[in-house]
Amino acid sequence: MVLSTTALAALAAAAVAGVARAADYALVDQYDKTNFFSEFDFFSGPDPTHGYVDYVDATTANNRQLAGYAGGKGKGGNDAVYLGVDHVNVTQPSGTGRSSVRVSSRKAYTRGLFVADIAHMPAGSAQSSSCGLWPAFWMFGPNWPSSGEIDILEGVNSQQSNAVTLHTSDGCTIQNTAGAVASTKLVSSNCYGSTGCGQQTDEAGTFGSAFNAQGGGIYAVEWTDSAISVWFFPRDSATTQQLSSGGGNATAPPPDTSTFGQPLAAFVGGSSCSIDSHFRDHALTFNTAFCGDWAGKVWSSDAKCAALAGTCEEYVAANPAAFADAYWLINSVKVYQQQQAGNGAATRRSRLDTQSAKFRL
Ligand SMILES: *[C@@H]1O[C@H](CO)[C@@H](O)[C@H](O)[C@H]1NC(C)=O
Ligand SMILES: *[C@@H]1O[C@H](CO)[C@@H](O)[C@H](O)[C@H]1NC(C)=O
Repeated sequence: MVLSTTALAALAAAAVAGVARAADYALVDQYDKTNFFSEFDFFSGPDPTHGYVDYVDATTANNRQLAGYAGGKGKGGNDAVYLGVDHVNVTQPSGTGRSSVRVSSRKAYTRGLFVADIAHMPAGSAQSSSCGLWPAFWMFGPNWPSSGEIDILEGVNSQQSNAVTLHTSDGCTIQNTAGAVASTKLVSSNCYGSTGCGQQTDEAGTFGSAFNAQGGGIYAVEWTDSAISVWFFPRDSATTQQLSSGGGNATAPPPDTSTFGQPLAAFVGGSSCSIDSHFRDHALTFNTAFCGDWAGKVWSSDAKCAALAGTCEEYVAANPAAFADAYWLINSVKVYQQQQAGNGAATRRSRLDTQSAKFRL
């Protein structure tokens, strides 16, 4: 069959119709020190991942200075949102665990572009690496895993670079890392359940103390109906400067992901995974866990950590000072969505906790 040029043009238009373009995005939410603690809820139940962690509520976090404001961008001041852990008290290995915080946005999102400017992430000392720690910046929907989970920035123990993972209900297989930087490796392709489909990165500065040494940077996630892509831009990169300029206000131009270059990780749905049927209504979440289903389970096979103590819990209980750097400093998280009907939606979750933490560290 020979197609006329008109038909070819129509086909070309159809091919790009599902792809997000810069001009389509508009800023729908910006979270920063002005509103973070009124828009994120503290989760204070038992850790669903069985960690050695005592997640405290907003009031307790406030009183113990585990959440508040501190200097962002590696400088002084109180520009950033601080989410920390107890790095003072020795705890009992048989107890609930070390005090920490886990917060989730009250609003939930389906598709969009999420731009997180993070100045510092939880890390251990140079000597201990991040042994015992399991920090994560992630998003997830109701009735896990049927609405999916996107782990944007996550890792445990002596891991040196970021691990990006999706978790879904059955029937979502990511077959390749098409488009991601060559150093990123697909660890597992089936996104079902607690193992999920993971991509292990190998880029310096994407995780832990190396991330912090450069003043952190920007993690950006683009979630469309066809793919979920994650980029990392170090603090001093041109893209970070561009994304931070203008304060991301409504009149600033939206980011243009076509200029972002190759993502750190890319999960292309294709015929083996319908992104729309496996991911929806995600709340943005930051937490710092200890041990549990990941950091605890692999403790004995992590030579560097296993040399420090017999179990993850023993190490975390006895060494509060090792966690002095185990805090998040978040400059902002901006959420952009496409504005056409049916493209992206934000829903407001029911309020879990009406307390908000408002104090200066
Ligand atoms: C350490 O423990 C004491 C006594 O329980 C408590 O008052 C204090 O808030 C704790 N410190 C932190 C940082 O959690
Ligand atoms: C909003 O962003 C634009 C474009 O970057 C900038 O010119 C303007 O000053 C910003 N306005 C505010 C109030 O920050």
